[in-house]
Amino acid sequence: MANSHLWWQTGTIYQIYPRSFQDSNGDGIGDLAGINQRLDYLHSLNVEAVWLSPIYPSPMHDFGYDVADYVDINPMFGTMADFDDLLASLHQRGMKLILDLVPNHTSDEHEWFRESRSSRDNPKRDWYIWRDPAPDGGPPNNWLSFFGGPAWTFDEHTGQYYLHQFVTQQPELNYRHPDVLPTMLKNMRFWLDKGVDGFRVDVIWLMMKDELLRDEPPNPDWDGVVPHNSLRHIYTQGVSGIHDLIRQMRAVLDEYDERMMVGEIYLPNEELVTYYGRFHPNGANDECHMPFNFQLINTPWDAQTVRRAVDAYEAALPDNAWPNWVLGNHDQHRLATRVGPAQARVVTMLLLTLRGTPTCYYGDEIGMENVPIPPEFVQDPPAVLQPELAHLIGRDPERTPMQWDASPNAGFAPDGVVTWLPVAADYARRNVAQQESDPVSMLNFFRALTKLRQAEPALNRGVYTAVNTGVEDIFAYRRTANADFLVILNFGGGTNTLNLAHVAKRAEIAIATDMTRSGSVDLSNMTIYPNEGLVLRLTH
Ligand code: NOJ
Repeated sequence: MANSHLWWQTGTIYQIYPRSFQDSNGDGIGDLAGINQRLDYLHSLNVEAVWLSPIYPSPMHDFGYDVADYVDINPMFGTMADFDDLLASLHQRGMKLILDLVPNHTSDEHEWFRESRSSRDNPKRDWYIWRDPAPDGGPPNNWLSFFGGPAWTFDEHTGQYYLHQFVTQQPELNYRHPDVLPTMLKNMRFWLDKGVDGFRVDVIWLMMKDELLRDEPPNPDWDGVVPHNSLRHIYTQGVSGIHDLIRQMRAVLDEYDERMMVGEIYLPNEELVTYYGRFHPNGANDECHMPFNFQLINTPWDAQTVRRAVDAYEAALPDNAWPNWVLGNHDQHRLATRVGPAQARVVTMLLLTLRGTPTCYYGDEIGMENVPIPPEFVQDPPAVLQPELAHLIGRDPERTPMQWDASPNAGFAPDGVVTWLPVAADYARRNVAQQESDPVSMLNFFRALTKLRQAEPALNRGVYTAVNTGVEDIFAYRRTANADFLVILNFGGGTNTLNLAHVAKRAEIAIATDMTRSGSVDLSNMTIYPNEGLVLRLTH
């Protein structure tokens, strides 16, 4: 890198889904004042930055990812004064704030879209993507919405279709119109001028679409399950012009000190890494500081497959590109549910010891699991629109209220309030208060890892080298800088004896998934227990 390591490289990012973190006013929905009440907690997690999912005015058809005003706060979440307070308090405690920027689409209630749909000759008509019906009156092409059905909705009033790849109420902006990007850049400056430290940019790789709106070809590998996967998205994703657009967004960040942009991009390594942009001879790049690396989310949970995925990503990264890892977010089933509760600590140890910035999702630090949502409470649009696929693509189960304590509503909202999604049935057993008082809880395990990572250059910036152990269920690697750490993860339920004398003779246990385990180990003959993970400090 051009500079020595920056906050977004060495630190851990913690994602808050604001609707579900802390309700301060008893409406059953989390808010900014609620987050402000939990600063001590956030600080205790040893995280460097907090990323908030959208907090802007929105009719909430996609729970805030349908933005009706980019430069204001949704009254449901509080006021601009609450926001300013939160930003100042985070900064006071040495933490950063990352906002969610949603530039690909607006809400249909955004003033720009109201104007755009008002008549064909409105000056904002072409800020969105409008087309005449196909000769048979149907949609202009075969593009599909991620959430089910066509990506086009017919507007009776003006007799044309508009494009939306998510819900109907999320019309897509047209970045080929010369006024759209400058306006979005102005919105970015509004928050950067306030002191916001960066943006997570929603579906950044979708922002350009094929100018000719050509039909997308069928996907020969489609498994017949989620209709959106039935096409190869060559005309809606990563379309020519996208890199130039991202460069212009990045240039705005570069007008300020140490701000960052992390792009939401689901792509294989080779394509993903192109979103770092070009690297200058001084090591600086010119697109996303980091394109989110989601590949472990869908990697089958076995040691050798995960090792191959990590090694492949490491190999694909251009020189000077800073890695990052994501294992959970508000669009993915809970981590502990995906890998199984027995592996929850192992996966946390992996995330917090790999090379590159970890992004953690609220509640994973206490091992929250997917919460089954009874059909009458389902709210998430893809699950509502495709009920037969709700169990696969519904996102309510991972968005339920944070479990703070054993009081009614888990301390998320006052007793008697109906929370926007149900509180998990296990909250009286699994909650922050209970785990605070248990020195070997998941929460204290998480904190021990983030603390060690924060303190040790070897872990927050050191080199990564995979280590062969000869055991199928084990993934082991070294992290090296001024000190030398060996991480050993047992993905299986068996006990193994390892001979790692080729790495070193002896090591001290720095952190074990079984937090009562400590002391020194002989690497030529060491036992690793079922579902165990160890971070060892090599003493040679
Ligand atoms: C990605 C966001 O993470 C997701 O929650 C949202 O539904 C879509 N983009 C549309 O904004």
